Amino acid sequence: MTTPHQHQILNGRKFHANKKIPYLLPEDTDEMNRLHKQHAVLKYTLQSNFQAPLQEKLEQGITVLDSGCGPAAWMFDMARDFPNSSFHGIDITSTFPQDTKPSNCEFVIANVTEKLPYPDNYFDYIHQRLLILGLTDANWDFALKELLRVLKPGGYIELHEPDLQDLNNMGPLLKQLQYTMSNMLKSRGMPPKISNELQDRAIKAGFVNAEFQVTPLKLNHGGQAGKMLWDDYEHGYTNIRPVMAMSNSEWQDEEIYAIHIGNCAKEAETMETSVNWYTCIAQKSL
Ligand SMILES: C[S@@+](CC[C@H](N)C(=O)[O-])C[C@H]1O[C@@H](n2cnc3c(N)ncnc32)[C@H](O)[C@@H]1O
Repeated sequence: MTTPHQHQILNGRKFHANKKIPYLLPEDTDEMNRLHKQHAVLKYTLQSNFQAPLQEKLEQGITVLDSGCGPAAWMFDMARDFPNSSFHGIDITSTFPQDTKPSNCEFVIANVTEKLPYPDNYFDYIHQRLLILGLTDANWDFALKELLRVLKPGGYIELHEPDLQDLNNMGPLLKQLQYTMSNMLKSRGMPPKISNELQDRAIKAGFVNAEFQVTPLKLNHGGQAGKMLWDDYEHGYTNIRPVMAMSNSEWQDEEIYAIHIGNCAKEAETMETSVNWYTCIAQKSL
């Protein structure tokens, strides 16, 4: 049974309020707009929508799941590129744009930490990106096993997460931001370095041929991509402020928080900071 959906307003922003759902970002229009822009930034910086070796099969027509699809930016983009494939999105909240959906897309409200409404061996390819702020340690293990169940033998899973704790060339201001975030995640039982654990966790869940790639993404330097990533970063940190302020009371003041983030922008530019983006690809054994 899917957990019923409830929400709460914190500092004027709409957040989940179901105790069984630890997700930390808001679910309002501003956050949906951020997720659409973030998709464009990631596609541009990673130069592709996917890494699994599935171009030909996607062209021929396969069945794809996007776990935690949000407003379906990745899914709609993929569905338009691969009209012979069918795309299924799940999320705990319905921000899926039903009125503009391509005909090869379907959406179901479902929680990846509970039994999914699909039979065993149903999908050829599963994509899951940016659940770092949504899953506890135990949730990750359950979710990966459940995703394995619904994946066909020989099918691929592709997981994308950033290392939000340790950035490359990180100065003291960003360190304060990152470590407040990672300590807050730890205090809620959520692994802040899940990106680095994806391969081991996938193997533990029963996947085979698990491999990972790390791509350092420039933050606020190195041209357009760095600026775009910083804008997304700043927007994400602004949207999570009500939660961050629970760990640092100074940040209850919007202005003080905004000044800190602004100083982080300058620091990242000067120090040429980058974020490690992890992509893990694995298969279900035949
Ligand atoms: C940061 S957004 C990323 C959205 C999308 N994957 C992307 O990359 O654009 C995380 C999404 O995961 C969803 N989510 C969080 N916890 C979830 C859960 N337990 N089951 C399914 N979806 C979840 C949130 O509602 C949100 O839409």
